Amino acid sequence: MRDFNETTATAAVLERMSGCKDRRLKEIMASVVTHLHAVVREVEPTMEEWMAAIQFLTQTGQMCDDKRQQFILLSDTLGVSMLVDAINHRKPSGATESTVLGPFHVAGAPKKKMGDTISKDGKGDPTYVSGRVLDQAGQPIAGALLDVWQSSSDGFYDVQDQRQPEMNLRGLFTTAADGRFFFRTAKPSSYPIPTDGPVGKMLMALGRPPMRPAHIHFIIGAPGFEPVTTHLFVAGDEYLDSDAVFGVKGSLIVPFEQHDDAKRAQQLGLANPFFTAEYEFMLVRETG
Ligand SMILES: [Fe+2]
Repeated sequence: MRDFNETTATAAVLERMSGCKDRRLKEIMASVVTHLHAVVREVEPTMEEWMAAIQFLTQTGQMCDDKRQQFILLSDTLGVSMLVDAINHRKPSGATESTVLGPFHVAGAPKKKMGDTISKDGKGDPTYVSGRVLDQAGQPIAGALLDVWQSSSDGFYDVQDQRQPEMNLRGLFTTAADGRFFFRTAKPSSYPIPTDGPVGKMLMALGRPPMRPAHIHFIIGAPGFEPVTTHLFVAGDEYLDSDAVFGVKGSLIVPFEQHDDAKRAQQLGLANPFFTAEYEFMLVRETG
């Protein structure tokens, strides 16, 4: 095969990998090559446009390290993360729905006791989050691990914001036999996804708002159950219908109710006035 041209290009590349012994890799790469070639044929990029694409991807990679993940952001903002998630989590009704992991999860968050606060700087509107982790029969799950993280009340994660202490607004909680969880935090705020990198520039060029509605992230796992990566969204947020990463699901929108009750605030260990949010997570048993 020598005359690689517009007509023969795709067949030539597919032929070149016909000896691949990994069937799945071969299947995926055949699809990637076929679709990528189709895009090039359709848009007929100039050499400058092609180089701009290469540079965009290069910059995206250069903005990835142990704290920043621009490629996840790219996947999220193109709706790919939610599509992969939907395909992989076709859940029975009633089970807690999943949504994007996002680029700000950090492994090794501090272990906390139920009732602890995850706010290290005490800033923002005091909020009490509580609920239970249940199985599909409505029975409490003991030993469920909740990995919780969120932005500050001014819309930044600790890893983006030098003013916040490390591991601020992050914590790991384990349920007891009653399946209950409860912790104190600050009310999360809506925030723009980081606009200092190529993905932010892409959104701006496309005329797309970068905002995400306020939410708290959770990964919840328990022995014998499929883990779920999800958020709880603050009801009433103005960006619920325009989430930059398409992550909102109606079942994950929760009222954050405001209270002015000094006695109850004291009981919960919060300043008054305060907010409360409550949710029951339902996990699906592992099969096979
Ligand atoms: Fe987030």
